[in-house]
Amino acid sequence: MTGEEKNLYDIFTAVPDKYDLINCIFTWGLDKKWRLEAARTCLETRPETILDLCCGTGDLSIRLAQLAAPDTSVTGLDYSQPMLEKAQEKTARLHLKKQPVFIKGDVADLPFPDGHFDCIGISFAFRNLTYKNPLTQRYLAEILRVLKPGGRFVIVESSQSSNLLIRKLDHLYLRTFVRWMGSLISGNKPAYTYLSESARKFYNAEELVDLLIKTGFRKVSVKKLLFGATAIHTAVK
Ligand SMILES: C[S@@+](CC[C@H](N)C(=O)[O-])C[C@H]1O[C@@H](n2cnc3c(N)ncnc32)[C@H](O)[C@@H]1O
Repeated sequence: MTGEEKNLYDIFTAVPDKYDLINCIFTWGLDKKWRLEAARTCLETRPETILDLCCGTGDLSIRLAQLAAPDTSVTGLDYSQPMLEKAQEKTARLHLKKQPVFIKGDVADLPFPDGHFDCIGISFAFRNLTYKNPLTQRYLAEILRVLKPGGRFVIVESSQSSNLLIRKLDHLYLRTFVRWMGSLISGNKPAYTYLSESARKFYNAEELVDLLIKTGFRKVSVKKLLFGATAIHTAVK
């Protein structure tokens, strides 16, 4: 791991205890609604095999498992052991008809054969893979590799509102409340300084479409949420 990757890895192995609570506070509970929307988008084409990439504490995997047909297999992958443990605990409590399978792994070297998944979903982690990350191209190549031809990649991620006033307010909120409250509640200042900075400087929806097209995806579409402060991108291999 390079120094930057190690910093990111340290952030995600340190944060989990209050991770869900902090997400909920910062988004006023909307993160759940946005993951639900992303899960529905993933399921539109009735995939039989779905990967929740960078699954964290498992919320998207759980939604997918709740909504998918019983013969659909849902796999969650993350490189943070503490995040995966939370995901396991949560799913065990829910008594789902079909449990997602959680796997420890790095997006740089996905432990799946070529063309394995009908759909890959990622919630609030694409920014981590692509914001000032030297491995971006490798991550994207791995995502393309494990998707079936015609398979879909669904990204729900923070974005930049095209309304100047809303964008300014959003950035102010990230720079002040999110940064300071996140550091205070979690006790992890680097994690919330990173979140605040990366969310303010991340791609807008159109730039993200360009990145996906340049990587080799096609038919990229965007659904903007909350005046464009969040967006769901869908791309086809
Ligand atoms: C902001 S969290 C999002 C978690 C979850 N998807 C959600 O909706 O809350 C980002 C997650 O990406 C994981 N992650 C970041 N880089 C990764 C990589 N290269 N390989 C695997 N997991 C990674 C982190 O461990 C963390 O759990």
